[in-house]
Amino acid sequence: MTDRDGRGLRKGLTSYGDAGFSLFLRKAFIKGMGYSDDALERPIVGIVDTASGYNACHANVPDLIEAVKRGVMLAGALPVPFPTISIHESFSHPTSMFLRNLMAMDTEEMIRAQPMDAVVLIGGCDKTVPAQLMGAASAGVPAIQLVTGPMLTGRHRSERVGACTDCRRFWARHRAGEVDATEIAEVNDRLVPGAGTCGVMGTASTMALTVEALGMMAPGGATAPAVSADRRRIAETTGQIAAQLATQPLLPSAIMTEKAFENALTVLLATGGSTNGIVHLAAIAGRCGLALDLDAFDRIGRKVPVLVDLKPSGQNYMEDLHAAGGLVSILRELKPHLHLDCLTVTGRTLGEEMDAAPAGWQQDIVAPFDAPIYPEGGMAVVRGNLAPGGAIVKQSAATPSLLTHRGRAVVFSSIADMAERVDAPDLDVGPDDVLVLQNAGPIGAPGMPEAGYMPIPRKIAATGVKDMVRISDARMSGTASGTIVLHVTPESAAGGPLALVRTGDMIELDVPGRRLHLDVSDAELAERRLSFKAPVHEGSDRGYKKLFLDTVLQADEGCDFDFLVPEKTGRVPKDR
Ligand code: FES
Ligand code: MG
Repeated sequence: MTDRDGRGLRKGLTSYGDAGFSLFLRKAFIKGMGYSDDALERPIVGIVDTASGYNACHANVPDLIEAVKRGVMLAGALPVPFPTISIHESFSHPTSMFLRNLMAMDTEEMIRAQPMDAVVLIGGCDKTVPAQLMGAASAGVPAIQLVTGPMLTGRHRSERVGACTDCRRFWARHRAGEVDATEIAEVNDRLVPGAGTCGVMGTASTMALTVEALGMMAPGGATAPAVSADRRRIAETTGQIAAQLATQPLLPSAIMTEKAFENALTVLLATGGSTNGIVHLAAIAGRCGLALDLDAFDRIGRKVPVLVDLKPSGQNYMEDLHAAGGLVSILRELKPHLHLDCLTVTGRTLGEEMDAAPAGWQQDIVAPFDAPIYPEGGMAVVRGNLAPGGAIVKQSAATPSLLTHRGRAVVFSSIADMAERVDAPDLDVGPDDVLVLQNAGPIGAPGMPEAGYMPIPRKIAATGVKDMVRISDARMSGTASGTIVLHVTPESAAGGPLALVRTGDMIELDVPGRRLHLDVSDAELAERRLSFKAPVHEGSDRGYKKLFLDTVLQADEGCDFDFLVPEKTGRVPKDR
């Protein structure tokens, strides 16, 4: 076997430091937990523990750790759990994206700092999985991803509900006066019925499916509900695979190749996955030295339709996709568009794992390739003088008639400005206008919040209008829908043209033509640029915030920190 650190395969506690006093001391301390020499001489599988009192999406992590440990020990290795920070979408001020790179750094450094021959990454909630894979890719230790799994659906007055497409739907109905205060309080108890990640095709589900497609997860590991026996069995299998990885030099870089990322992008498009997925995959690929080509991604989307009937693009929930066979049912439909020879964590190829998975029953969650839910991929990339570096629109969750639209801009200069004015009775806005939000990008907010899902101004919503074209440099939750242009690059706070839009300008969106155009002359834009001022953030002179603002990259590069990304040696997709 080839080695990876010049000294042969790492083995347990001897993986670094001198073999004399430093090893003696390390063993003395860990024996304080009652380990025997027999245990300590085995390969070590680290297990990243991301349980937190603030993270309901990870409430089952203690159970999963027990199951992973069982798998590791059945395979003859020693499991050692250790904590890192945990990020829940709703408890991450100012944004979870702001903290993702911190978690990636924590994960990378703790894998590096402690002796381990392989690592099980237990993540789930949106930012945690990309953070862990970014960290593991940089640490260069064999790794396998386990997700906590989706929550089950709840019931509100016999209607099936789940976080959090239905949260938005009920809140919009409440704002429009259709759902009263009593009922909205009632539904609040029903939306998150237990442990696990959002049960729709939000970012957590999207990352779970794309990471399984990437080859970094046990086969079938993406969809089993958080509280199911299947989920614990997957955790046990994950432990067994990790023990196997600990004795083989199968590094993340051998799995996360250009072709593997292309498979992941294909799945992202076919699932109608979250727009956040493209940012995270760009960041993970970046850690592997690969640049993600947005235009090539768009070209895949012209060929690969949405097949998965899950909210918000469709009607169902993750537990239904699990019952329909999970990821492999999607992969089978996509077979001619996949690289089947990509290696996975099991040491077998994606194609071999697909052949080994059970098949052959009727289901109505994954549509056949030739009768899709939506004729193109879930996302499209638009460009133009308003977004020279590109912008993303989730076309499968948009209003078809608005995908080609010309309208008058109504500009909000910040999230605070929007919050203050959007519901004002005297706001000068009509249903055909285009809502524009500035300063909500990676630097602007900071942390690129999910503010792209701008509320429909109350006076417009009250007339029954459910959607308008909305444009920003922000992100959007994967659970949201609407005709919403996101990730405008470069962002306004970095001096992008978005900063120059004024109320009354005309904007043209042409998604079929992949165009986003601000109908203002170059001369006028140059004139406006003279008075551009970048926003100044309170507290930006110290600590993590300073690091973030000084080094964060734009959305097309995954919003990673510039100093964490190695030089690019390849492109994704490779062959198109
Ligand atoms: Fe954690 Fe949705 S809030 S997955
Ligand atoms: Mg989310």
